[in-house]
Amino acid sequence: DVPEGEEISTAATLEVLQQEVAACTLCDELASTRTQTVFGVGDPKAKLCFMGEAPGADEDRTGIPFVGRAGQLLTKIIEACNLTRDEVYILNVLKCRPPGNRNPSPAESSNCKRFLRRQLDLIQPEYICCLGAVAAQNLLETQTPIGKLRGQLHDYRGVKVVCTYHPAYLLRNPAAKKDCWDDMKFLMAQMGVKL
Ligand code: URA
Repeated sequence: DVPEGEEISTAATLEVLQQEVAACTLCDELASTRTQTVFGVGDPKAKLCFMGEAPGADEDRTGIPFVGRAGQLLTKIIEACNLTRDEVYILNVLKCRPPGNRNPSPAESSNCKRFLRRQLDLIQPEYICCLGAVAAQNLLETQTPIGKLRGQLHDYRGVKVVCTYHPAYLLRNPAAKKDCWDDMKFLMAQMGVKL
């Protein structure tokens, strides 16, 4: 959770929150190296959110999450669930691209949590699908490996959470696509949808 003494944004709407994010300079390095912040896209009232780690080069350039190669695979995964990108909400733990796509530092994750927490409070999804270890471990505040977090329902402040591999990992390890598909079937079954 947000550490003691750390503020959470009180933005009244996603639009106001997005403006706060765009003006953020809490992380010196990220604020000076980013092209722009990447807030989130999709249905602001979505029942299901897909959450990744942080923007990559393509996302930093366009301002839209998951538009690069991994993003195209995520789009296919969403469509295989008989959904579209417009019907879900897609966001990342971090709103800025870490240089060279390095993992977010603990300080960066902590700084960005004030926005992530408010973003999820405003969307009020019923389900969050965490993509990869960084997203899952960050949201659930655990060190448990992603392989062990898969296949069960977790809780984030009353929201049901399912974890799967990051699409970038699936691009490097196509054999794991079958496991991801099992995770999507599990998620859809929780939501009362048969695949
Ligand atoms: N990887 C992520 O985790 N998020 C993006 O938006 C793009 C790639």
